[in-house]
Amino acid sequence: MSLFDPRPKDRLEDFFDRERELDEFRRSISSSPLTLVLGLRRYGKTSLILTGLNEFKVRYVYLDCKALPTGMISIGDFMQLFVEALNTFTRRYSGLRSRILRLLDSIEGISVSGFTVTINLRRFKPQNLFELLGRLNDMGEEVVLIIDEAQELRRLARYRADYILAYIYDNLRNIRLVVSGSQVGLLYRLLRIGDPEAPLYGRAYSEVRLGKLSIEKSREFLELGYQQHGIKPSRETIEYIISLVDGVIGWLAYIGFKTIQKKRVDNKVVDEVVREAYKLVLQELKHFLQLRPLAKERYQAILKIVALLGNATWTNIYNYIQAQLGKVPKPTFNSLLKNLVDAGFIEKKEDKYTITDPILRKALLEAPIR
Ligand SMILES: Nc1ncnc2c1ncn2[C@@H]1O[C@H](COP(=O)(O)OP(=O)(O)O)[C@@H](O)[C@H]1O
Ligand SMILES: [Mg+2]
Repeated sequence: MSLFDPRPKDRLEDFFDRERELDEFRRSISSSPLTLVLGLRRYGKTSLILTGLNEFKVRYVYLDCKALPTGMISIGDFMQLFVEALNTFTRRYSGLRSRILRLLDSIEGISVSGFTVTINLRRFKPQNLFELLGRLNDMGEEVVLIIDEAQELRRLARYRADYILAYIYDNLRNIRLVVSGSQVGLLYRLLRIGDPEAPLYGRAYSEVRLGKLSIEKSREFLELGYQQHGIKPSRETIEYIISLVDGVIGWLAYIGFKTIQKKRVDNKVVDEVVREAYKLVLQELKHFLQLRPLAKERYQAILKIVALLGNATWTNIYNYIQAQLGKVPKPTFNSLLKNLVDAGFIEKKEDKYTITDPILRKALLEAPIR
């Protein structure tokens, strides 16, 4: 067992703290058809969901929307993901296997051979998705459908994910929804729960929010993690790591894991490992920018100045952008800024903007974006 294991945790013995959140999550899934699990990247959402559901012995189908292709996606891409999730599901709950496979086999475009479900996208029509969800419901057992990083479904061409969710919410009593998102503002925009025109309008739901670890908890996490590998780093290095990652549990785990691999734990190795992380965060940023090619330069300039200043006012940023790239109308500028906030790259606190992820900030300062 290792706290530093880079995969999402799914068992309580590998799961650090978060007792209050786990408790909230338990209450929420037992009382509400829709639970949102929110928090920035690497705050431990997937770990909380999987550990929680395993611990409460609740069956789940797990859709990881991060695994969808980049750019716009089709309903076929989504179905492919769904079918893979069903295969994992039937493997995990072998007691239900024959029942669920029999139910799925009768759907047009879906076939079952042995224990494996496959989909023929040429014969599968989008409306069959509702049939498939219906069969899952007909199994007669409660099941949680996890849609992890659901904001990615905003890229679904021609179909609206909020309709699918509302359909499940309203009609399928055996399916409870757990929807997570790192890009919280984008997720809200997708769900539009407060919009009277939207399909999910007015539906009751509950939220579990994950935050940063305190300095004390961060220290405990690191010391315990290293201890599991029989290592006791210097006090100085522990404090150094804590100062770099600002309570993001996933970064603590990442640095722990990488330094263990390198078999040396000192400030220099930590710097090396952090530089390796730049690739990851810049890739995530690139993924966001790819969808917005026309505004790419402007986004990059905003991020650059916010990273440089650490704390930037609206005017600081606006003036910089215009100096760099010429005139930008205020409404355009405001919507770019809002998109970056909604995507979780920057946040606004007391009228100042900052980069939310300390590692992304360092990467923006030290490594060029390509
Ligand atoms: N409560 C926890 N205990 C131990 N490790 C955790 C915990 N939460 C997250 N991690 C670790 O941090 C990293 C990011 O966690 P993950 O659940 O994937 O975050 P998210 O889904 O929010 O991006 C993973 O390496 C995971 O193992
Ligand atoms: Mg996750």
